[in-house]
Amino acid sequence: MISFTGKKRIVVTSALPYANGSIHIGHLVEYIQTDIFVRFLKLIGEDAIYCCADDTHGTPISIKAEELGISPEELIEKVSKEHQEDFKSFLIEFDSYYSTNSPENKEYADKIFAALKKKDLIYTKEVENFFDEKQGRFLPDRYVKGECPKCRAKDQYGDVCEKCNATYKPIDLVKPYSTVSGEKPIRKSSLHYFFKLSELAPKLDKWLSSNEKLQPEVVNYVRNWIKEGLQDWDISRDGPYFGFKIPGEENKYYYVWLDAPIGYISSTQNYCKQHGLDAEKDYWKSKDSQIVHFIGKDIIYFHYLFWPAMLSESGFNLPDYLVTHGFLTVNGEKMSKSRGTFFTAKDFLKRYHPEYLRYYYARALSRKMADIDLDFADFRSTVNNELVANIGNFCYRALSFLEKNYDSSFDSIEEESELFGEIIKLTEEIKTDYHDANFKNVIQKISAIGSLGNKYFQDNEPWKLIKEDKEKVQRILGSCVNIVKILGILISPVLPGFFEKLKKQLDLPSLGWKDVNFELTSHKLSKVSILFDKIDEEEEKIFPLNLKVAEVFEVKDHPNADKLMILQVNIGNEKRQVVAGKFKEYSLDDFKGKKIVLVTNLKYAKLRGEESQGMLLAGDDGKTEGLVSTDAVVGSPIGVEGYTTGTAQVSFDSFKKLDLKVKNGKPYYNNTLLKAGDKELVVEKVKDGIIR
Ligand code: 2FM
Ligand code: ZN
Repeated sequence: MISFTGKKRIVVTSALPYANGSIHIGHLVEYIQTDIFVRFLKLIGEDAIYCCADDTHGTPISIKAEELGISPEELIEKVSKEHQEDFKSFLIEFDSYYSTNSPENKEYADKIFAALKKKDLIYTKEVENFFDEKQGRFLPDRYVKGECPKCRAKDQYGDVCEKCNATYKPIDLVKPYSTVSGEKPIRKSSLHYFFKLSELAPKLDKWLSSNEKLQPEVVNYVRNWIKEGLQDWDISRDGPYFGFKIPGEENKYYYVWLDAPIGYISSTQNYCKQHGLDAEKDYWKSKDSQIVHFIGKDIIYFHYLFWPAMLSESGFNLPDYLVTHGFLTVNGEKMSKSRGTFFTAKDFLKRYHPEYLRYYYARALSRKMADIDLDFADFRSTVNNELVANIGNFCYRALSFLEKNYDSSFDSIEEESELFGEIIKLTEEIKTDYHDANFKNVIQKISAIGSLGNKYFQDNEPWKLIKEDKEKVQRILGSCVNIVKILGILISPVLPGFFEKLKKQLDLPSLGWKDVNFELTSHKLSKVSILFDKIDEEEEKIFPLNLKVAEVFEVKDHPNADKLMILQVNIGNEKRQVVAGKFKEYSLDDFKGKKIVLVTNLKYAKLRGEESQGMLLAGDDGKTEGLVSTDAVVGSPIGVEGYTTGTAQVSFDSFKKLDLKVKNGKPYYNNTLLKAGDKELVVEKVKDGIIR
């Protein structure tokens, strides 16, 4: 077991979410995981605090604010409110939720920077980067695209090619363009500050190999990077930049990743100032404290190398415990807006109870880097069969039986030493599993206790036995109430809302870990009610077509067939070739530059020797054919409200069987409008008919 005993204070953090977007179910994995952990520590009486903040600096924040026509300060203010609302609705409870754009964060950033400088770990060097003259700023990797220097694939980002996986520097891109202005960026040199990470390699390696609380799989990985040689870290950016100015500089700022983790300290200080404590003295430099970070596997480099190096060289403690989790997939694939599997926290809440997600994530999480999958069919059946039918049902059955037949009270319990012993043994294991962040095991064992409770109730057939021995049944129910109480306490870090409700029904307002026992020998309940509802398992409605807005950039006759044409279309991040029948009412030129709708998951076909990688949608009223077109952004997915977009490949035969119609010049599927986000589509030239 990973032990937390002996140290007075524990500060626990999650990665700071960027202040330019909404919290989604992918983010929630980590915040739920951390929240469960902290709630457990508090439950067993540890002095633990959960600190987090919005990560507010950097180019993406400025660009987003410009898009919205507001200042970066206004943006981060607005996003911070939204983030905190979302966390609250999922019962994620922080002791401090702060911002990296705070005076405390500036102070700690300057302090750490000065300490590193004093140790001669900072130097400056000229660096060449892409500069967008129209925008008047340097462009980070994500904002430059161009052709891959290796395979010449078009529209690749500045760091890695999605086609051939080559990695390179943005300045190696062929025909680069700025994704902000579309202009060709120029190369421009400027002076940058560097942190001598390479020099600290031996020290970091020692820390990694001697700390037993780090995940071995991650440690191996990181030690390999060290073996391959560490590069010094570029920690400055030229203005205009939304961030903290480097002391003594007019137009240079700390790179966002320098002050982001420092946000952990300033958020701790935000807590401390309200509690008469000090972040440095009581947490980050204290001998009597522990630092625990929860992170995703995408930011290992920062948390296992840069951050510990910064901390140790500026006199702070190193992290004690790092829990690194994998990514979330939905229905087995990467979350995707076009597949309808991208849910913001708010979207999810429209459909499901937040504690169902907490339960499902807990059930999948352990101290492993493996990805976790949210499979919606599995989610529904797990919630219904485990949480509702086992745990929820046992609690309700036992409590309501006592309420109905014994005026809610008992004054002794049936001593079942074997059963009690088995349950107590499980509770001890659960405590260890919680410490180790092995929530998967926690849930398995809690479910096992639920099953033991249900079996105990069922085997005794209280509905029959009550006629022969009314007092014995009351004692049995007394024992059941103890099991219910234990279950509630054990699961409370995962389901805090459920626990609150249960405590009210039990009329035991101050339950804690000290009550994980069978010592409640007489008691009276208050009003009992159902604790969880089943999820409606009605089949999810699937719209099988993966449609995208496509722009035609080239049209020509098919070389081997008079009635066919060949179109080249752009669907955002990809180009496709489509072979289609010519339209009576359109010339080839009419297609050029037009935004149409492409079926992207149709089986590819060869038509007279030319490959067709999709099909365009058109309306037909028996006389005229008209294109389905739109002015939505190229690449936008098209969906049907209330339906999840399918991911599987579709054959032409099954396509023909779909109920796709034109009504009043608009396209419909099963009488529901097709839309590109909020944008409607039109069917040209056809008022009523079919879509083919
Ligand atoms: O990757 C991210 O989303 C970053 N905003 C995480 C920052 S964590 C910390 F170091 F501040
Ligand atoms: Zn490539």
